[in-house]
Amino acid sequence: MDPSSVLLTDKVAIITGGGDGIGKGIALTYARFGAHVVIADLNPAAGEAAAAQVRQLGRKALSIATDIRSLDQVKAMVERTVEEFGGVDILVNNAGGARPKEFMSMDPERWRRSVELNLMGLLNCTHTVVGAMTAGARRGAIINISSIEASRAGPLYSVYSACKAAMENFTKTAALELSRRGIRVNSIAPDMIDTPHTAELHTPQAEAAIARVVPLGQMGRVEDVAGAAVYLASDLSAWVTGITIHVDGGTFAGAGWIKQGESWTLFPDSTGVVDSPRETR
Ligand SMILES: NC(=O)c1ccc[n+]([C@@H]2O[C@H](COP(=O)([O-])OP(=O)(O)OC[C@H]3O[C@@H](n4cnc5c(N)ncnc54)[C@H](O)[C@@H]3O)[C@@H](O)[C@H]2O)c1
Repeated sequence: MDPSSVLLTDKVAIITGGGDGIGKGIALTYARFGAHVVIADLNPAAGEAAAAQVRQLGRKALSIATDIRSLDQVKAMVERTVEEFGGVDILVNNAGGARPKEFMSMDPERWRRSVELNLMGLLNCTHTVVGAMTAGARRGAIINISSIEASRAGPLYSVYSACKAAMENFTKTAALELSRRGIRVNSIAPDMIDTPHTAELHTPQAEAAIARVVPLGQMGRVEDVAGAAVYLASDLSAWVTGITIHVDGGTFAGAGWIKQGESWTLFPDSTGVVDSPRETR
């Protein structure tokens, strides 16, 4: 295998929500691997700042203020991308999120907004981008940023978790339906990632709790998600479609309780198998 197959040289990547957090991390990493980047973010100031950082890395960048909940805005964003760059090779459906609230305390307006952001946005962007991806000799890659919550209960995140589960199922169907068009569709399911929104987890108590429940002992970094996103966008994964990669420090593998004597305990805590969290990087 040619090591250069990991590169994204002159590929055109749209990253929704690329102005901050994981999306920004993917944008900058893609630029380092040679891609030109379109930041489609609701927040124009954040989008412009991320685009400026991409340009500093020597790649082209465009910030297009976009609300992924609006099909019209998504269409305009993709049209502008094609005008500027001639097509689209990579779409990262990253914009999403939720604030915690018990389902029975939510009103319909709140759960409708969550579905619009976390599910309708995915559909709007995917449906719109396929035409631009199949123009010319391009082969596309669509990468959906899901969550560990897609595959387990998400107390306080019920609607968000349901949308992420839908995202992972949609990933499989889209992978099949788009395979004949040369487009691969995959998901990444992160657990807790260190972003400005998880800053409150930098307390000794929270870090001790994370060390207890995450087998690899700490929160992930945006670069950990970006690494999987490079793999799924590049020719390294040319024969990979319809899958979800967990980037979660082992929590999906370890999510559960084991019986020890008369009590139940969380693996790996207290099992003796892992005495203390280890630095893995
Ligand atoms: N951070 C984590 O721990 C974590 C864990 C699992 C999954 N995820 C998923 O990763 C993705 C990114 O999360 P994050 O924590 O980096 O988010 P973030 O809140 O740090 O950044 C999200 C970006 O999306 C933009 N955005 C919000 N609504 C938008 C809209 N309607 N249209 C376009 N852009 C919009 C925001 O302006 C912001 O720049 C989300 O889909 C989230 O569900 C995050």
